Amino acid sequence: MTATPTVYVTRKIPEAGLARLRDRYEVVVRDEKLPPSKAHIERRLADLDADGLVCLLSDTIDADVLDASSDLSVVSTFSVGYDHIDLEAAIERDVAVGHTPGVLTETTADLAWALLMTCARRTVEGHAYVEADEWETWGPTLLTGPDVHGATLGIIGLGNIGTATARRAAGFEMAVRYSGRSRKPDREAELAEVGVDATYVDREELLAESDFVSLHVPLVESTEELIGASELRQMPDDSILVNTSRGGVVDTDALDTALEEGWIARAGLDVTDPEPLPGDHPLLRHAPSRLVVTPHIGSASIGTRDRMAEMVAACTEAGIEGEPLPHSARQDAGL
Ligand code: DGY
Repeated sequence: MTATPTVYVTRKIPEAGLARLRDRYEVVVRDEKLPPSKAHIERRLADLDADGLVCLLSDTIDADVLDASSDLSVVSTFSVGYDHIDLEAAIERDVAVGHTPGVLTETTADLAWALLMTCARRTVEGHAYVEADEWETWGPTLLTGPDVHGATLGIIGLGNIGTATARRAAGFEMAVRYSGRSRKPDREAELAEVGVDATYVDREELLAESDFVSLHVPLVESTEELIGASELRQMPDDSILVNTSRGGVVDTDALDTALEEGWIARAGLDVTDPEPLPGDHPLLRHAPSRLVVTPHIGSASIGTRDRMAEMVAACTEAGIEGEPLPHSARQDAGL
């Protein structure tokens, strides 16, 4: 009789996925709040002779980890992003890599809008003001900010999440511009159907003409610090930057200077570099008046996290059974 395959899960994911895995496999879950070290993952994979690994975006999965168990056939990450996984090394070792695209698109676009709105209308700052007992009277210029309706939204990276973010601009009668490696007529047509006229422009034009710039590119070599000092200087001084993609897409020191010197008005970040952002990080001196930070919760709706867990389980199952993955990072990366 062949042994039941073993799956190591680096942190507790929603039960929807774990239950499905437990039905078929030995499942070992590391029930801790903080991420394991790389050495810990390697040790556990080796001890368990694991066939599958379920990981999070905070785990580094490189060649050493992939070599830890000779039985490993699949790594399934509880994220759409797979920049923490050495895909080339996985391909070389014939280890399949699953991820969770699509399912978190709308939820993440919702959060991009939450940050956009809160930066524009200063809601976090307003709450802090009330809590500090500073609210003495109605004020004609108290906490004024720019209008969202009728403004120009610039989307850098019109992929799934960028398009979903742009689609929401219809309700605010905004002009939408986008930039990226190439023009996307299909996306433009999809947006036109809901009344959003998305215009393809080069990045310089987008930065110079947008009231709000929202980032939706994956973190790859060409997008590292895509937004640095020169880009921030191109933005109008009353503009707002929103980042729900990856922290490394923005040069943190340059953003610090931009907020300090007023090159832009405000920034809303769900992702940071470093991440997590320590509570005493210098960037936080701009909060809440110039900066709002959330702890990488773009996909954090209950329903979406449940669906992500189910997708992770489906990818793990397929990988262990030697079937094509329903959501293969390799395929989605065009490798
Ligand atoms: C992802 O999945 O890559 C998001 O950043 C977190 O849900």
